[in-house]
Amino acid sequence: MQNSLRPLCLSLETLHRVKSRMLEAMERGLSRRTHSQATVRMLPAFIRSTPDGTERGEFLVLELGDTHLRVLLMELSGDTDQRVTMKERCFPVPDAIAQGPGEKLFAFLATCLWEFLDGLHMPKTDFELGFSFPFTCRQTRLDQSYLISWSKRFQCAGVEGRDVVVLLQDAINKQDRYHIKVIAVVNDTTGTMMSCDASAGPCEVGLVVDAGTNSCFMAEARHVEVVEESEGRMGVVTEWGSFGDDGALNDMLSPYDLQLDQASLNPGRQRFEKMISGLYLGEIVWHILTELFSGRMTPALLTKGSVQTQDILEITDEQVGLATARRVLRALGLEASDQDCFNMQQVCKAVCIRAAGLCAAGLAAIVSHMCRNRELSRLKTSVAVDGAVFRAHAKFSQTLQQLVKQLAPECDVTLVQAEGSSKGIGMVTAVASRLAAQRLQVNQTLALLQLSPAALGTVQALLRREMELGLKKETNAMSSVRMLPTYICATPDGSERGDFLALDLGGTNFRVLLVKVGSRERGGVQIISEVYSIPPHVAQGPGSQLFDHIVECIADFQTKQGMMGQTLPLGFTFSFPCQQTSLDQGILLSWTKGFNASGCVGQDVVKLLREAVKRKNHFALDVVAIVNDTVGTMMSCGYHDPNCEVGLIVGTGTNACYMEQLRNVGTLAGEEGRMCINMEWGAFGDNGCLDAFFTPFDRQVDEASLNPGRQRFEKLISGMYLGEIVRRILLELTDKGCLFRGRLSPKLQTPDIFQTKFLSSIESDGLALRQVCAILEELGLHVSCEDSVLVREVCQVVARRAAQLCGAAVAAVVEKIRENRSLEQLAVTVGVDGTLYKLHPHFAQQVQETVRQLAPRCSVTFLQSEDGSGKGAALIAAVACRVARHQRA
Ligand code: G6P
Ligand code: BGC
Repeated sequence: MQNSLRPLCLSLETLHRVKSRMLEAMERGLSRRTHSQATVRMLPAFIRSTPDGTERGEFLVLELGDTHLRVLLMELSGDTDQRVTMKERCFPVPDAIAQGPGEKLFAFLATCLWEFLDGLHMPKTDFELGFSFPFTCRQTRLDQSYLISWSKRFQCAGVEGRDVVVLLQDAINKQDRYHIKVIAVVNDTTGTMMSCDASAGPCEVGLVVDAGTNSCFMAEARHVEVVEESEGRMGVVTEWGSFGDDGALNDMLSPYDLQLDQASLNPGRQRFEKMISGLYLGEIVWHILTELFSGRMTPALLTKGSVQTQDILEITDEQVGLATARRVLRALGLEASDQDCFNMQQVCKAVCIRAAGLCAAGLAAIVSHMCRNRELSRLKTSVAVDGAVFRAHAKFSQTLQQLVKQLAPECDVTLVQAEGSSKGIGMVTAVASRLAAQRLQVNQTLALLQLSPAALGTVQALLRREMELGLKKETNAMSSVRMLPTYICATPDGSERGDFLALDLGGTNFRVLLVKVGSRERGGVQIISEVYSIPPHVAQGPGSQLFDHIVECIADFQTKQGMMGQTLPLGFTFSFPCQQTSLDQGILLSWTKGFNASGCVGQDVVKLLREAVKRKNHFALDVVAIVNDTVGTMMSCGYHDPNCEVGLIVGTGTNACYMEQLRNVGTLAGEEGRMCINMEWGAFGDNGCLDAFFTPFDRQVDEASLNPGRQRFEKLISGMYLGEIVRRILLELTDKGCLFRGRLSPKLQTPDIFQTKFLSSIESDGLALRQVCAILEELGLHVSCEDSVLVREVCQVVARRAAQLCGAAVAAVVEKIRENRSLEQLAVTVGVDGTLYKLHPHFAQQVQETVRQLAPRCSVTFLQSEDGSGKGAALIAAVACRVARHQRA
C-alpha cells in the first residue's frame, strides 16, 4: 500500500519546485519572444478592470454550452449594495445546428435571443451583450475573437478562421426590433473571476477545476508583452492545463500518470490537467486500484471509467467517506473488508491531496507573480473558484487554501465560491460597458486640452503679433506682452572679474549668493549660496515686511560668510515684471505667482530694498543691477555658450527674454546694436487674444488665483498652476463618475494639493502602477489601479499642452530673431531654467519637438542653466562694474 502511494506524495519542497517552474512557464508565456512556443499560453483576455460595484443597467448574455444555449438578462442596480437580478432561459441546441452551416448556428442564436426578449415584454429595446463561446479562439480585442477550431460536439461549416463577434452581430442585425451590440466575448475562467462580489475587496484571480482546469488573473498590462497596452491591468487566461507538456513535470509523474496519459486521447498533452482535473482523478484512482487489487480482478474493475471523480472526492470525507468507499468497491464487484475501505480512502486522499497540492503550487505561482510585478510587499486578493471538484467537496478547497499559504506566504488569499459563469459574463459586459462610457466622457473632457498643429501655429502667430505690438511705442499699450527693455546690450565675454553679491527672488527658493568671478583658467565662476524661505504671509503681506525679511536674510548670509562690513556690488534677480529705465532701477508693474505684497507695485524695487537696508541700519548695499530671472539665465548660459541669445523660464512661473535689434525697440531711442528684451510672456492673452484656447478648467484656475484675469498664458503653462488644472479636471471626471467611483473626497477638494513635483513624479517612465498609487496615497487620495491610470493620463495631457504652448511661443521668438537678421537658417541657443522644465520627464523634449515643427528654419539648442540666475545677475553686475571702471578711467 505504502509503495503504491509513495509516487503520489509530493513534499512541500517539491511543490515549491512546481511553483517556480510554473512561474518560469508563465514568464515564457508573457514574453513576446517566447509566447508562441510557450506551454502555458498566457492568453490576453482584454479585460481591463474587475467590477467596482458602480456598474448599472441591463445586460444580455448568450452562453453557448455543449448541449444548451442559455440566454440571460442581468440587471445591476449600481447603488451601494449592488443588487443583481437575473432572468434566464435555456434552449436546447439541436445536432442539426451544432453540426450544420455556420449561418444557421448564428441565426439560431439570434432567434433564441428574440424569443427570450419577446417573452420578457420589456419596453427597452437597446442592449449590450456578452457572448460566451467556449472554443479555442484567438482573441485580439474584447469584442473580436477568431475561432481556431471547433471541439466537443460542434462542427459548423464556414466559421473557423472568422471573427465570431462579426458573425453574431450580423445575425442579430438581420431584424430591427431590438438594437443589440455585442461588446464582449468571454472565456469561462474570466467569467468565474468576474462573477464575484466586489464588496469584499478585489477578486483578481479565477480558478476552475472542473472536467478540465484553467486559471486567470489580472496582470500588469506592461508585463503582457503580446498586447500593445502598457497602462493598467489586463486579464490573462493562463491555459495552465498544458503546463508540463515540455517535460517540466516529468520528474513528478507517477506510473499511474504515465499509464493514464498513454491511454488518453491526447498523449503527452495537458499533463498538469491530467493530474488535477475532474476528468482524470477517478481514472488515476482506478489505475491504483487495479494494481492494489490485482489478485482480485473483477470485470468492472477492468473497465476504464468505472471509478467516478465525484465518488473519489466524497470518499475523502471523514464522516461518510468509508461508507462511500464500501459502496464504490462493491459496485466494482469487490467484497470489501474494513481494511479495503480504509485503503481505498487512503488512495483517494493521496490523489486528491496531490491534485490540491499541484493546484496550490500553480495558484501560489500566480499570486507571487502578481505580488512581485506590482512591487508589493504583501498582496491581498480573493480567488474565485468554480468547477465540479470545488463544488463536490470542501476538503479540496481547505487543502488548497492551507498549501497556498505555505507556498506563497507573502500573499493573503481568500477563496470564494464563484456565482456561476453566466453572472460573470454579464459582469464582463457590464464592466466593458462602464469602461466604454467612461472613456467617452474622459475623451470628451480631455479633447478640450488637445491642441492640433494648426492651433499651435495660431498661438505662435498670435504671440508674434503681440510681440510686434509690444515693441512699438504707439501700440505697446494694446499688447498683452510688455516687451520690457532690460538695458543689457551684450552677453558676457569672459573678461569679467571680482566678487559679487547676488539675490535671487521669485522662484521656488529665495537665495543669497556670493559669486566669485575669476579667469576661466582658474575655475571661472564659484558660488557660495544659502536658501531662505519666504513664508506666504510675508510674500502676501505688507511690502516693507517683505523687504525687511530680505535684508535680514542678507545680514544672516554675510554674518555666516564673515563678510559683515564689506560692501560688494550686488546683482538682484527679481523675477517679476519691472519697467526699467536703467540697469539699476526697476518699477514693479505687478506681482505674479504667489506674491502679492502691498505697497510695492509702481515702486522702484531697488529703492524699496535700499530703504529696508536703511531701516535696519546694519550695513550698506551697492545694488548695481536688477535683473529678471530669464535675463539672469540667458547670461549664465551665455557665459558658456556665446550663441545663447534667448533666456527661458518654465518653473513656478514662465517667461522669456531674447536679444532684439535696438532699431525694432520703438519704446527706446537708439538704432545700433541689440538689447535684451524681457518679454513677460506670462501675460500673453490678458487682452483676450487667447480666449478661444481657455477651457472651463483654465477659467476656474484663473478665477481662484491671486491675480484673476492676469498672467493667462502663464496659467496654462507653469508649475504653479498645472497641478490645479489637473485637480479641476479630476473633480469634473469624478463628478461624471469616471473616477474614484464617483465619490468626491475632501482631499480632492483641497486647492493646490498637486505640486509640480507631483506632476513630474507621476509621469516618470517605467513607474509601476503601485508607485503611481503610492504617490496618490501620499496625498491622501485612495485610488484603485484604474483611477491611478486615469490620473496619470490627465497629468500627461495637461503637461503636454503646456509644453506645446511653450514650444509655440519659443518658435515665435526664434523665428523673429531669424527674420530680424534676414537669415535663411538660424542657429541659436536657448538658456533654460525652472523646476518644471528640469524635473518633468517629458516636458523638455515636447517643447523641443514643437519648436522643431513650428520653426523648421531655426536650429535651436536648449542649454539648461545649472547655477540659477543669481550667477547671471552677478555676471551682469560684473559687466556693469567693468564698464563703469572704463568710464571713470
Ligand atoms: C532659476 C532662478 C530663479 C528662477 C527659477 C525659476 O533657478 O535662479 O530665480 O525664478 O529658476 O524656477 P522655479 O521653478 O524655482 O520657479
Ligand atoms: C514673472 C516673470 C518671471 C517668470 C518666471 C513670471 O510670473 O512675471 O518676470 O520671469 O514668472 O519666473
